[in-house]
Amino acid sequence: MKTCLITGASGFIGNYMVNNLQKKYRTIAVSNKNKCHAVSDVENVKIDLATPAIEKIRGYCPDIIIHCAGMTDLRECEKERKKAYKINYLSVEKLVQMAEEMSSYFIFISTDQVFDGKRGYYKEDDVSNPVNFYGRTKLDAEGIIKEHNVRYLICRTSSVYGLPYGNRDNFVKFLIEHLERGDRVSLYSDLYSSPTYVKELCGIIEMLIEKKKRGVFHAVGGQRLSRYELGILICQALGFQTSLIEMSAYISEGFDRPLDSSLRRSEMPSGIEDCGIHYYLNDMVRL
Ligand SMILES: NC(=O)c1ccc[n+]([C@@H]2O[C@H](COP(=O)([O-])OP(=O)(O)OC[C@H]3O[C@@H](n4cnc5c(N)ncnc54)[C@H](OP(=O)(O)O)[C@@H]3O)[C@@H](O)[C@H]2O)c1
Repeated sequence: MKTCLITGASGFIGNYMVNNLQKKYRTIAVSNKNKCHAVSDVENVKIDLATPAIEKIRGYCPDIIIHCAGMTDLRECEKERKKAYKINYLSVEKLVQMAEEMSSYFIFISTDQVFDGKRGYYKEDDVSNPVNFYGRTKLDAEGIIKEHNVRYLICRTSSVYGLPYGNRDNFVKFLIEHLERGDRVSLYSDLYSSPTYVKELCGIIEMLIEKKKRGVFHAVGGQRLSRYELGILICQALGFQTSLIEMSAYISEGFDRPLDSSLRRSEMPSGIEDCGIHYYLNDMVRL
């Protein structure tokens, strides 16, 4: 059985990734401050990837490294640039070096934030031009991966939604908490992205690994939606009143966000069809 090491295993996407892959691979779940909740007999390990402890990863000799860890809060990345650079760039530089030395297949989760959002519906080879520090760190990380002699997959994704494992905050949890209390929620109607169901993302990555694909992929849902439109659909799926969701116009929070960061979904191997957002929302509420 091959060994698959997943960083960010305590995070929103990482928990699902571990759950998805643990039957197929000997799975090493790497987290930092929090724990991985996916129920399975994986090996859990805590490593701060921004410190020399990252070297411990060599001890597992992974055939596959899926790097889901990152500093993902855009506001925090702007405020704490050094920390963001360490986690989002330097840890990738170190990991990809190790991957090269160990001949591991390296999978990196990147973002729609590498684009400036002036046009939208971006293709894999469109010119990237991040407008915030988070996007800059992720684009630099993509760059350093490409410079190494390593089998790599860069999966750019966008506005990932789904129920979180444990108590981790995410968009769906935020909506549920507010709507249950009957609070109004104000969402941007002029920022567009390509919402992606977390289980679909993990399924795509699983299949791309199986097919030994390499290069840059846009692993996203097929629809371009504003945050407001996504909020309405989630609210309907959860059975709350949509009147609690209000439109608002984007106001800069001291840094920029791309206005339309939607991505054109890459051509996928057969067996991976886009089932549409209603299908995914039904799946989400069934859980
Ligand atoms: N969610 C989205 O909509 C989205 C969209 C595009 C791209 N992405 C990318 O997908 C990846 C996963 O996103 P996510 O939403 O799952 O993020 P998340 O829920 O914020 O999880 C981040 C993970 O990174 C880990 N981490 C942070 N600093 C670390 C450090 N110094 N050492 C080791 N681990 C560290 C965290 O560990 P602890 O919690 O244990 O400290 C956590 O497991 C990220 O690379 C992100 O850039 C996400």
